[in-house]
Amino acid sequence: MAYRIKVVELDSLPAAQEILTARELKTYEEFKVEKRRKEWLGGRFALKQLAMNFFTFDMQHMEVRNSPAGKPTLMVPDGTHLPVSITHSGDYAAAAIGLTGDNIGIDMELIENRGKEWAQMCFHKDEISSGAAFFLTELWTKKEAVLKFLGTGLSLDMKDIRFIGGRLMLYGKAFDVWAQMGSPNIQVDASDLDGGYKLAVAAEAPQI
Ligand SMILES: CC(C)(COP(=O)(O)OP(=O)(O)OC[C@H]1O[C@@H](n2cnc3c(N)ncnc32)[C@H](O)[C@@H]1OP(=O)(O)O)[C@@H](O)C(=O)NCCC(=O)NCCS
Repeated sequence: MAYRIKVVELDSLPAAQEILTARELKTYEEFKVEKRRKEWLGGRFALKQLAMNFFTFDMQHMEVRNSPAGKPTLMVPDGTHLPVSITHSGDYAAAAIGLTGDNIGIDMELIENRGKEWAQMCFHKDEISSGAAFFLTELWTKKEAVLKFLGTGLSLDMKDIRFIGGRLMLYGKAFDVWAQMGSPNIQVDASDLDGGYKLAVAAEAPQI
């Protein structure tokens, strides 16, 4: 596995002052909605806990910055750069650090029925080999993980990221972005988490 992940419960986070830099604390205090505040903090806690396995700095000396499109980067005082990604859903936040390549994406979603309209909006007809909630939720997390790997955010059409027979296929703008990144070999893993969640990671694997 060329990445590490960490999942944290939003109800057992330390105080924000123990996790965030002064600049992050300012952003944190500006959030009006408590749920958003907590998940934002949780994502940073998960990521920094994970980072402490690689770096000797404490949490208040590592800072998460988001690109204009929202893609996070972890700023470490010694200038080391590792690809990182953050997700939050329900009671949990999770983060991933990639050990190879320049990009990674993680996504976590609660397994639930989201209806036919949602499925039609998110998936190409060739992807829907089952209407079961666990199948569609897994498919969604895999697509979102790839979307985060590509880093463009919602300017991409989710249907341009397709899983046909379990195999990732990119079309349109998703393909163009991937080609501009040097056509990395994207490996996507999905797993089940306690509490009825699906989690997927899109990471860079060596070219075969
Ligand atoms: C922006 C987006 C990445 C957020 O995904 P999400 O599933 O709503 O939220 P998650 O909790 O999983 O992820 C949020 C994290 O993604 C990261 N993120 C945001 N924009 C990103 C980007 N362009 N690239 C990579 N990561 C990004 C951020 O770190 C963010 O956490 P933070 O704000 O605490 O830093 C985007 O994929 C999105 O909004 N998807 C929803 C699409 C949707 O509902 N479509 C319906 C039709 S299918």
